[in-house]
Amino acid sequence: MTLVNTADLIRAADRDGCALGGFNIYNLEGVRAVVAAAEATRSPVILQIHPAALRHGGRPLVALCLSAAQEASVPAAVHLDHSTELADIQVALEMGIPSVMADGSHLPYADNLAYIRQVTALAATMGASVEAELGRISGTEDGLSVADYEARMTDPDQAAAFVQQTNIDLLAVCIGNVHGVYRQPPRLDFDRLAAIDRAVAIPLVLHGASGLDDALIRQAIRCGVRKFNVNTEVRQAYLDTLKTALVTSPSVDLVPLMQQAQHAMQAVVAEKMALFGSAGRADPITG
Ligand code: G3H
Ligand code: ZN
Repeated sequence: MTLVNTADLIRAADRDGCALGGFNIYNLEGVRAVVAAAEATRSPVILQIHPAALRHGGRPLVALCLSAAQEASVPAAVHLDHSTELADIQVALEMGIPSVMADGSHLPYADNLAYIRQVTALAATMGASVEAELGRISGTEDGLSVADYEARMTDPDQAAAFVQQTNIDLLAVCIGNVHGVYRQPPRLDFDRLAAIDRAVAIPLVLHGASGLDDALIRQAIRCGVRKFNVNTEVRQAYLDTLKTALVTSPSVDLVPLMQQAQHAMQAVVAEKMALFGSAGRADPITG
């Protein structure tokens, strides 16, 4: 199986009415967990690298992801997550990452638009695809008032203009989703999501998918979400395993510890693939 472009994978998922997971990768155990879950469930998959992980892991981490994607028995993409710097995107594209999330959501609208237009122009010269965010996804620690929060949500009309003027492949939306742990039960604005879906012709992405229950995920898929970003739950499975193993078996050796952590992450990822509807789609999705 060869490395596949994220946007091509997502467009195929769109035709099938399912969604794919973009799972954040930090190290070998993460790569193995995500690819093994994808192969076991026969799901296409996206390996995502956050710029912080990229700064830590550099070219070897990219090579690890690319090599695992190329060798996987299911379609696999490698994607740069949340990149706020054109220079980082250029480096990632030159390292062979064929799709990027350019994140200008912290900028005023006009600057976000200008940044994303630069990125799509650059990506076009390298055959890469671009995801961008409109609105501003918060962290649970941001402590915003409801009014502040709503002001950060994606506006459907603005989304239509943004997509048309940037030529992006995927749009990440803000409808009440947050990064990290949901401190209160998540409340997603599905009317807004459906309106965004009607306003734009490209697939939608929902960040902050950790902690969303099955009903919310299914409704999001019905309203046009085709990619869910998952980091916190997988990372937590890794950390919990290490903590427990080191307390219960302090003399555990490193390889069995790495394997336990991998299996814990793999179980979380496989469950998400079943929930997103991508399990069992590996073969027809590229056919
Ligand atoms: O880009 C990464 C994701 O949006 C992570 O979301 O914190 O809910 O796992 P999460
Ligand atoms: Zn995110």
